[in-house]
Amino acid sequence: MDNENHDFFTIAVSPLPSLRCAVQRKRIGVLTSGGDCPGLNAVLHGVVSAATTRGFEVLGFLDGYEGLLNPVRYQRLDAVSVAHISHLGGTILGTTNRGRFVAKVGAGKKSVIPREVLQQARETYLGLGLDALVCIGGDGSLSTSLQLQQIGVNVVGVPKTIDNDILATASTFGFDSAVSCVVDSLDRLHTTARSHKRIMVVETMGRHAGWIALHGGLAGAADVILIPEIPFHLSKVADFAMERSGSGLPSTMIVVAEGAHPAKGRVSTLKNIPQVRGEVRLGGIGDYVAREIEKRTRQETRHVVLGHLQRGGNPTALDRILGTRFGVGAMELIAKKKFGHMVSYQNYEIGGVPIAQAVARIRTVPPKGQLVQTAREIGICFGD
Ligand code: F6P
Repeated sequence: MDNENHDFFTIAVSPLPSLRCAVQRKRIGVLTSGGDCPGLNAVLHGVVSAATTRGFEVLGFLDGYEGLLNPVRYQRLDAVSVAHISHLGGTILGTTNRGRFVAKVGAGKKSVIPREVLQQARETYLGLGLDALVCIGGDGSLSTSLQLQQIGVNVVGVPKTIDNDILATASTFGFDSAVSCVVDSLDRLHTTARSHKRIMVVETMGRHAGWIALHGGLAGAADVILIPEIPFHLSKVADFAMERSGSGLPSTMIVVAEGAHPAKGRVSTLKNIPQVRGEVRLGGIGDYVAREIEKRTRQETRHVVLGHLQRGGNPTALDRILGTRFGVGAMELIAKKKFGHMVSYQNYEIGGVPIAQAVARIRTVPPKGQLVQTAREIGICFGD
C-alpha cells in the first residue's frame, strides 16, 4: 500500500479520567467475526481499556454480527471482564464464519447481505443507543461492516486473519502465531523425516494466499514451498527431491499451502461436506502431493495437515502487541469520527484507511517479490 492514503495518528489518553463520570456516557459496540484468530482477545482488551479511559460504555455482541439479530445477544465489557485475556487464544465473544452475514463467497469475491438482515442489525444499533460499532474481522467481515456503514451504522474495522491477505495493512494479527505453529511443526517433522529418510509434505492454511506457507517454510527450513501464486509441476518437485537424495540429503520437507495447485490442475476442495453459505472449504492438496511424489520418486512420503492448530492456542508476543495497538487504534478512529475506516499497520505505525480500500481484493504473495527471490537464492524450490 502507498503511504499517501495511510492516515497516521498518535495515541492520546484523556488526562482527566476522574471527571468523566460527570458527563453523559457514550456507548459503543464491538464484535469479532469470521474464523477465530490468535490476538482477538488482545484487540478486545485494547478497545475496552481505551474506551473506558475515554468514558465510553462497551457492549460486546456475541457470535459476530449474529448477536445483533433477534434475539439480540451481548454482554457489557469493562476493565474487569477484559482483565488478563490478551494472552488467550480464541475470542471471549465467540464468532462465526457462517450464518446470515457471510459476505464472502470465494477468492475475495463479495456478496450482498439481504437488506432485511442489515436493517435488523441497524435497529439493534439504534435501539441500544450506540455511537459506533467496532467490527473485528477478515475481508468478508469487513465487507459486511461496509454494508452496515452504507445504511447508517458508524463502523470502524480491525483487520483480522491468520492468512495475512488483507490489503492496506502490512500485517494482520494472528499471522505471526500461525507462522510460529508451522515453524514449530517443521522443527519436529525434520527430525523424524531425517531419521526415516522420508519425504514429508506439510499442508498449511491460508486460503488463496501463500503467506503462511512462505513465511513458515522459510523460517522452518522447508526445501520446497508450494503456494497458490506460483502454480507447480509435480515432475519438477519430484526431480528436485530425487536430486537431493542422490546427493546424500536424506529427507525433503515440502510445505504446501491449502490453496496451491498444479499448473494444469485446480484448487483442491473438501468433498462430501454439507453445503453452507460462504466459501468452499479448501483441503486435500497435501495428501495429493504426497501420493504423487511417492509414485514418482519411489521414496517413502508422508503428509501432515496442520489445519486448525494454526488458529488455536495463545498468540505470540508480536500478535498480542499488534492486537492491543489495533484495539486502541480503533478507539482513536472513533474519537476522530473516522467511520468507515479500518485500523492499519504501516511502517511500524498504526493509522487508519478506508475499509473500501482494504476489501477491494485480497492481498497475495507477489511471485517475483523479494521474499520469493530470497527463498530461491537459498535453494528453495517452488515447483515451477
Ligand atoms: O481464513 C482463515 C482460515 O483459517 C483459512 O486459512 C482456512 O481456509 C479457513 O479459515 C478454515 O475455515 P473453517 O474454520 O471454517 O474450516
